[in-house]
Amino acid sequence: MGWWRRGVIYHIYPRSFFDADGNGVGDLAGIAQRLDYCQWLGVSGVWLSPIYPSPMIDFGYDISDHTDIHPLFGTLRDFDHLLAEAHRRDLRVLLDFVPNHTSDQHPWFLESRTSRTSPRREWYVWRDPAPDGGPPNNWRSVFGGSAWQWDESTGQYYLHSYLKEQPDLNWRHTDVQQAMLDVLRFWLDRGVDGFRIDAVSRLLKDDQFRDDPPNPDYRPGQDPYYELLPTFSRDRPELGDILRRIRQVCGAYGEPLLIGEAYLPMPRLIPYYEAGIHFPFNFQLVRTPWNPRDVRVVIDRYEAALASQHWPNWVLSNHDNSRVASRVGRDQTRVAALLLLTLRGTATLYYGDELGMVDVPISPERVQDPWEKNVPGLGLGRDPERTPMQWTGQLHAGFTTAQPWLPVAADYAACNVASQRTDPHSMLNLHRRLLHLRANEPALEHGSYASLAADDRVLAYQREWAEQRFLVVLNFSSQPIAIAEPALRGVIRLSTYLDREGEPAANPLSLRANEGLLIEAHD
Ligand code: NOJ
Repeated sequence: MGWWRRGVIYHIYPRSFFDADGNGVGDLAGIAQRLDYCQWLGVSGVWLSPIYPSPMIDFGYDISDHTDIHPLFGTLRDFDHLLAEAHRRDLRVLLDFVPNHTSDQHPWFLESRTSRTSPRREWYVWRDPAPDGGPPNNWRSVFGGSAWQWDESTGQYYLHSYLKEQPDLNWRHTDVQQAMLDVLRFWLDRGVDGFRIDAVSRLLKDDQFRDDPPNPDYRPGQDPYYELLPTFSRDRPELGDILRRIRQVCGAYGEPLLIGEAYLPMPRLIPYYEAGIHFPFNFQLVRTPWNPRDVRVVIDRYEAALASQHWPNWVLSNHDNSRVASRVGRDQTRVAALLLLTLRGTATLYYGDELGMVDVPISPERVQDPWEKNVPGLGLGRDPERTPMQWTGQLHAGFTTAQPWLPVAADYAACNVASQRTDPHSMLNLHRRLLHLRANEPALEHGSYASLAADDRVLAYQREWAEQRFLVVLNFSSQPIAIAEPALRGVIRLSTYLDREGEPAANPLSLRANEGLLIEAHD
């Protein structure tokens, strides 16, 4: 069984994890220094958002060299050191593979745009203007406006699904495929354990460049990107062949983990499994209203849609979405943690969520995210969830000795690793305890899932393996609850306040406000 089926992946946003060289931005040496922490916490691997040379217009997702390290983060030597240190601690390292686009400063694009006859012209997606001189079709950029950028000197438009500084590669071109597969080989040769594949559903677009249709459900005030349904600009059927090739290249290195990033409706995720992606991220909990009924529906539908060979996974936060503590409210963060870490499948834990870190309001003059700058006023900016990790109660939360690139949360003096580590009832210790329980209890690690009940306040489900059965009971409300459960026999293995371990699970089962329980049932 792959390591990733047993473990939890810790998502590090390198700019914000730990700054070892004191310039206000996190780096590889900083991550290496904090591997002991990752090991202590009990995660199985780390996934690093991009660390490659980049103009940093999209903070590393605009890559100008796929096979080197940005000097802000360090050098290839630092990377090799980090990898060796991680492996020494039995921690896996996943990199972010960004195949859909490069930076407009990448030598490939610089060459591509020199002339229509450039040998690399077809490495990107160039089109003539529409008859009226405008963009070739109506496709939108995720980050606002048209997905087409006019290039004056060669008289054509190029495609960019994200920023105009992120031109899309033409994956229909075999040389592009070869070059990008070589990027995977480069990192696999160095020993990385897998990749999170950025924007995987966008690699291929409609080969006839048909217009995207209007979205009948669009409501004014929403992100204007959703005015159209991206029917032709992403998730094309031919993509499977490319993904199979990626899997094949990786297959020569054992079985590195391949995770796909795709914000697609659940049924559309299945073909990604079938094309060899170990799992496409499941972002449903990021988007679902926080109440027991809706959460249950999402879990049950997901479980029902997956075939036995499709491994589930769960995400509560990442660098593109509001943090879970801000979405569900501080009172519910422990319940959310128990949910994330007891559902069936691999969980991804975003750095700082284990402390209950919240989104940090960013004043207009400190905004960094280009999305916020392009589409202001809709709250699309991602800086709030990317703020520095809170290590201590000292200056800048112990993240850096310089001015940090994004402000540190106001609550850092109380909410930080150092203080929570010594508090036996802290959110941090809740995560640690859950990670250890999960790793030692087969029913939690790979047992079956069955939902038991959901009403306006409570969600309950069970995990079962052989003779072992765990019940998870989550109080989503701010009121205490007593649940009549005459048949229930068992013992509380964990309560989200970490103070009921070993207590018999009595009838009625009482839960405090915002409390979750993990019960080992005895028949
Ligand atoms: C998804 C990444 O997670 C996001 O941060 C980035 O801006 C876009 N893809 C473009 O690479």
